[in-house]
Amino acid sequence: MNLLEQIKNNKIPKHIAIIMDGNGRWAKKQGMARIFGHRNALTAVREAVIGASEIGTEAVTLYAFSTENWNRPKLEVDALMTLLTKSLKKEVPDFQKNGVKVNAIGRLTDLPKKALETLKEVIDVTKTNTKITLTFSLSYGSREEITSCIKKIATKVKEGVLDINAINDNVVHQNLYTHNLPDVDLMIRTSGEQRLSNYLLWQMAYAELYFTDVLWPDFRREDLYKAIYTYQNRERRFGKTSEQLDGEHEQTT
Ligand code: FPP
Repeated sequence: MNLLEQIKNNKIPKHIAIIMDGNGRWAKKQGMARIFGHRNALTAVREAVIGASEIGTEAVTLYAFSTENWNRPKLEVDALMTLLTKSLKKEVPDFQKNGVKVNAIGRLTDLPKKALETLKEVIDVTKTNTKITLTFSLSYGSREEITSCIKKIATKVKEGVLDINAINDNVVHQNLYTHNLPDVDLMIRTSGEQRLSNYLLWQMAYAELYFTDVLWPDFRREDLYKAIYTYQNRERRFGKTSEQLDGEHEQTT
């Protein structure tokens, strides 16, 4: 049985988050400028999103541009923004064909006007698609998201529309950029780095973390299947014991 057949018969992660790392190193290996790596990253994006959608994953969230990425050389920042704008537009027919609903999280008002307009248009034209939600994290940082969430909640308390004792996990969830997404089940980071880099810290509280040496532009469906296979063969205990989980499993089978 091939890998795809094996993973199809097992529990599929509902929400996969990806830290797409290694574009610069991929380009450097070929003696090219860093942006060459970013341009060659789009095939990997398609493979990951369509691959995940075909096996029934409901949401894929990509770390496309962090709050810290604004500190990169202006030339690279501009090139990334242009790439984002052009590729979003170009992909619309494929989004429609494959039922991809586009979504975005982050401090989106930081984006250049043209990129933001295009993003809003693409979100609007794909809003009734239901096969998979593809979220771009743009000018995103988890600490910024949590800080902004605290401010929103504090304002509601101050205005008297929220009781301080009513603040719980769900209220926090509702005030995060990801309020319309389930928690992350599986986080994949490419290029051999083993860090979270300020990504979805609240949402990944119980996520399985998968690190691969593959550089992002080389990432293909088979790499996604390997990550899912690893996820399926780990035991997610959510704070319980293995024995408790075995008991629950027996009751449901
Ligand atoms: C990390 O590689 C990648 C980024 C900071 C940008 C991610 C952008 C893309 C994948 C381009 C496609 C964008 C979309 C979603 C349309 P790096 O530059 O940090 O690589 P390095 O660690 O090897 O230098």
